[in-house]
Amino acid sequence: MNRRTAIQQTTERLARAGVPSAGAEAEHLLAEILGCSRPALWLDAQRELSTAETSRWEDWTRQRELRVPLQHLTHCAPFLEWTFRVSPAVLVPRPETEELAIRASGLLRTREGAATGRPQRVLDFATGSGCLAIALALRHPSTVVEALDISAAALEIARDNAQRLGCDARIRFHLGDGFAALRGGTEVPGAWFDGIVTNPPYIPSAEIADLEPEVRDHDPRLALDGGADGLEFYQRLAHEAAAWLVPGGWLLAEFGDGQGPAIRALFQHPAWESAICEPDLSGRERMLLVWRSAA
Ligand SMILES: C[S@@+](CC[C@H](N)C(=O)[O-])C[C@H]1O[C@@H](n2cnc3c(N)ncnc32)[C@H](O)[C@@H]1O
Repeated sequence: MNRRTAIQQTTERLARAGVPSAGAEAEHLLAEILGCSRPALWLDAQRELSTAETSRWEDWTRQRELRVPLQHLTHCAPFLEWTFRVSPAVLVPRPETEELAIRASGLLRTREGAATGRPQRVLDFATGSGCLAIALALRHPSTVVEALDISAAALEIARDNAQRLGCDARIRFHLGDGFAALRGGTEVPGAWFDGIVTNPPYIPSAEIADLEPEVRDHDPRLALDGGADGLEFYQRLAHEAAAWLVPGGWLLAEFGDGQGPAIRALFQHPAWESAICEPDLSGRERMLLVWRSAA
């Protein structure tokens, strides 16, 4: 079988299985198997697949028909300029979270070089694969990064990613439920962080059943479920995060489409100043930026 036929057959099979953008998915799948870019596939479209390539192509096409995400077949996912290892224990990093990382990086940059006499300190709350913590550690070598998650299996992946990307010595990982994770053996004092970045679970529990199978059946439920209204973690952040920030410190958080007004309302509290919901590249409000009151 040649590359063109493989792409056509996968496209038809994935389209029948209800996979959105089946043609692009088919190209992506074959490009991963052959270790080339999608455009490169078409430069040599008549080239025959080897026996090993054909067998992997059949296996992966069958699994994609069953709606297993491609990242779970390749065990990796891109995030900004890096490749992260993923497993069923972690949320596959999403492109919208890259925007969160870029925004957090901008906030760190504005205070770089300020005469505070100490490095900046940032927390990735609910780190999963570690994508946010690691991106910030790599982009800001002088920043001290802490990361927490309730899932030991997720932290294992995050630590492995930090090691592979060469920044494990600069990130401390903490296991536990929310901020309680910071009260473990390596205690972090209160009012410690200049910034907190987070992409917490924010899907209302009852809506999980309606998500695409790739998300519903393959991302960990722990990474999706934001409680009855999806806002459980924002309630916790609104009540607890200010105590972990220095006066004037920032909290930057991703949230779901349509949750902006409710989230802004949660942060109408004297502990917080100027809650802004920022749009993503498609113009939808998806990010909260709020500062701890200076008082
Ligand atoms: C939406 S994922 C985000 C992962 C990663 N930051 C990203 O953006 O790809 C949310 C993460 O929150 C973690 N989590 C869920 N409940 C938690 C809790 N009570 N305390 C700490 N982390 C929690 C999950 O294990 C999961 O890794």
